[in-house]
Amino acid sequence: MTEIDILREKILALKEKKNALILAHNYQREEVQDIADHTGDSLELSRIAASIDCDIIVFCGVNFMAESASILSPHKTVLLPEISACCPMADMITVSSDRNIKTHFPGFEYTEGYRFSAAYTLRDIKKEYPGVPVVTYVNTTADVKAESDICCTSANAVKIVESLDSDKVICTPDKNLSAWIAKNTKKEVIAWDGFCHVHERVSADDVLNAKKEHPGALVLAHPECRMEVLEIADHVTSTSGMLRFAKSSDAKELIIGTETGLLYKLRKDNPDKSFYPLRKDMLCPNMKKTSLNSVLKALETMTHIVKVPEEIRVLAQKSLDRMLQVK
Ligand code: 13P
Ligand code: SF4
Repeated sequence: MTEIDILREKILALKEKKNALILAHNYQREEVQDIADHTGDSLELSRIAASIDCDIIVFCGVNFMAESASILSPHKTVLLPEISACCPMADMITVSSDRNIKTHFPGFEYTEGYRFSAAYTLRDIKKEYPGVPVVTYVNTTADVKAESDICCTSANAVKIVESLDSDKVICTPDKNLSAWIAKNTKKEVIAWDGFCHVHERVSADDVLNAKKEHPGALVLAHPECRMEVLEIADHVTSTSGMLRFAKSSDAKELIIGTETGLLYKLRKDNPDKSFYPLRKDMLCPNMKKTSLNSVLKALETMTHIVKVPEEIRVLAQKSLDRMLQVK
């Protein structure tokens, strides 16, 4: 037996004993995706977290995802195996300048990524545009969700904005997703200035170069990419949208404009097709922190428990529930 087999056996036995469920985002390491009960994009994982029957959820992803699972399933214990697995984009917006970012993640230190100035906050933009509904991408902390009217994911963002009874919306925190929404709706979009460093680095030249190298391939791009990329991509969608598109398309070659972790499932699901990363360095270090060792340790030691303070949780749940109700 290999070391991986031994780890897998231990995890599966403990998972059974503790009535735990393992959820993994599509960007996770291959061996972590393999051990998961469910893999998916942010929307799918939110829906599963809300409906699932178990005592413990081990969330293999980044902190805002575990937080969302805890918001939707307050009676379950939600474990984030790597406490420092964060999303720098989520850290680009704060509710108010006195927000204590360590409230929900005891022991967690922001050691990497970008910190935006807390001088301009969500409350400030709301004051600037009174009465304008706030649509917040799920890549945010619970207190930002709690202060928003409705959440969205990359899979449903346009639909969510369209569902609102207002000609104007504030969209936070991703400027690229907001630009994509604005292109696909008649509503006026007021965008926050955040971004995902993994997708922001891709340029139109990268797309043109990849197309030159693989002339027959279609280009799929995640809406966290810049507009110059989205405009020349063949299809723009979430990570699971890419999985569905790749399966149903006649194309035999596809260039993938998102974090390279998605290539594992794309290749597994479509052994007859070829997939190329749009850029080889589209890698999210935070998504790669979780390993089989950390999953095992999480189950053995019941760490790290992610629990949102009840007064924030109730409000954040309203924003997530509103999103989940939009068909
Ligand atoms: P989706 O899987 O929902 O498309 O999200 C991408 C992402 O960046 C998650 O951090
Ligand atoms: Fe955040 Fe981007 Fe990493 Fe997703 S890929 S967790 S948006 S930094």
